[in-house]
Amino acid sequence: MFLHFIWKVIKVFSTLSEEIQLNESFIIGKGGVKTVYQHPNYQSRCIKIAYNFSKKRPVRREILYLIFYYHYHKPFTHLSAFHGMCKTNFGKGAVFDLIRNYDGSLSKMLSDHIIDPNLPQLSPAQIVLLLDELYDHLIEHSIIACDPAANNLAVQFSEPECAKLVIVDGIGNPHFVKIADFSKKYAAKTIHKKWQKYVERSQILHEVLSKGKYKVKIL
Ligand SMILES: Nc1ncnc2c1ncn2[C@@H]1O[C@H](COP(=O)(O)OP(=O)(O)O)[C@@H](O)[C@H]1O
Ligand SMILES: [Mg+2]
Repeated sequence: MFLHFIWKVIKVFSTLSEEIQLNESFIIGKGGVKTVYQHPNYQSRCIKIAYNFSKKRPVRREILYLIFYYHYHKPFTHLSAFHGMCKTNFGKGAVFDLIRNYDGSLSKMLSDHIIDPNLPQLSPAQIVLLLDELYDHLIEHSIIACDPAANNLAVQFSEPECAKLVIVDGIGNPHFVKIADFSKKYAAKTIHKKWQKYVERSQILHEVLSKGKYKVKIL
């Protein structure tokens, strides 16, 4: 089983398709590490290209963990699936699910929903519900999100009134000793610590959490 996983990883990193032509008009987002482009051949996929080479390690880690989670049949309901590497005119890219809503529009990040009054307004109580649901899901399936910040959580509407959070960045266990990959208890500890740091102590979420009567998680 483990050798099969290693084989999958080697295959993913060595298979590159024909060169895909991108330009600035395909950009849909940019963070501190990657530029994200609409995939020209697939409406529901994006191509992520790292431009900050000092932070390539977490990018590789995320891909390895997405392959690992897929291989061990973890649910992808709250994750953006990885579809392999590709060659582009801007260098090597990684292909992921692009998160879209029921009407085909691009899903916005939770941070956008908090800052932008023009987006469908989610009440603080609704946001707290979405966060609670995501936290429970991560703990139940031992999915480690090392950076569950509001700008990495897409709010995906499957219907006008029905939303869920999808993590688009920061998956994987950042610790050198990988006990949390094989122990549910340690995985929960890691998830909880990151949740405290990026959600419960987040500046941008602070007001929403208090208005929405968020209850601090206890392990
Ligand atoms: N799968 C996705 N679906 C929709 N938008 C995305 C997706 N991935 C990234 N984005 C957008 O691109 C931005 C940067 O992507 P991200 O992977 O977080 O890069 P970085 O590692 O540089 O933070 C995100 O904040 C979001 O706005
Ligand atoms: Mg990000």
